[in-house]
Amino acid sequence: MLDLRDLHKHWDHRPLLAGVNLRVAPGETVALLGASGSGKSTLLKIVAGLEAPERGCVCFDGQDLAAVPPHRRGFALMFQDFALFPHLNVQDNVAFGLVEQGVPRAQARERAREMLARFGLAEHARSRVWLLSGGEQQRVALARALITNPRVLLLDEPFSALDTTLRERLRAEFAQRIRDAGMSAILVTHDEAEARAMAAHAWALREGQLQPLW
Ligand SMILES: Nc1ncnc2c1ncn2[C@@H]1O[C@H](COP(=O)(O)OP(=O)(O)O)[C@@H](O)[C@H]1O
Ligand SMILES: [Mg+2]
Repeated sequence: MLDLRDLHKHWDHRPLLAGVNLRVAPGETVALLGASGSGKSTLLKIVAGLEAPERGCVCFDGQDLAAVPPHRRGFALMFQDFALFPHLNVQDNVAFGLVEQGVPRAQARERAREMLARFGLAEHARSRVWLLSGGEQQRVALARALITNPRVLLLDEPFSALDTTLRERLRAEFAQRIRDAGMSAILVTHDEAEARAMAAHAWALREGQLQPLW
């Protein structure tokens, strides 16, 4: 179980997180809404281990992860701006997390191609990422986030660049995968309909605190 306890973080003397508490059970998705600049992305980075909280604990199954580096947490973060590696082709972007875990490159590429096929990108496996459209890059980022079977999935506005049909398909696919794989997921979104479609519980981040929406 992912368990965030009393997280605090300031930016420029402004409190972004002022005592954030949140538990996400295995297989559960919670949605996080809030105005632009309210600290949603900062919270996800803290959970992923890319930034440290000033106070409080990111815990998983009772263990404080403060000393555990991002690549050893078993968490995946899909960034708002995708953050794909421009010097790697599509399949190597997707395979990256497996290679980092020590999976042999040929095997990692094979699994990356399977994942790409599922996302409708099989024919782009060897393309440069910067030649793809925004929606295609977003699907590459989603495939990269899922390939390591993370125990925690952090999604920062993951479906925003997709057209409606694809967005609805991927939403459903993600919701099912999260449940089947028993991942704990936090979905940051602006879109209340998306939050309702994917999450049984939602919170708004306001002035550093989480307020229950549903
Ligand atoms: N590393 C950083 N560089 C610049 N600004 C930052 C940084 N970290 C946080 N901030 C500021 O903190 C606030 C919250 O940012 P963010 O977490 O991205 O909000 P949200 O994702 O809710 O839009 C913003 O005002 C942003 O400018
Ligand atoms: Mg953000």
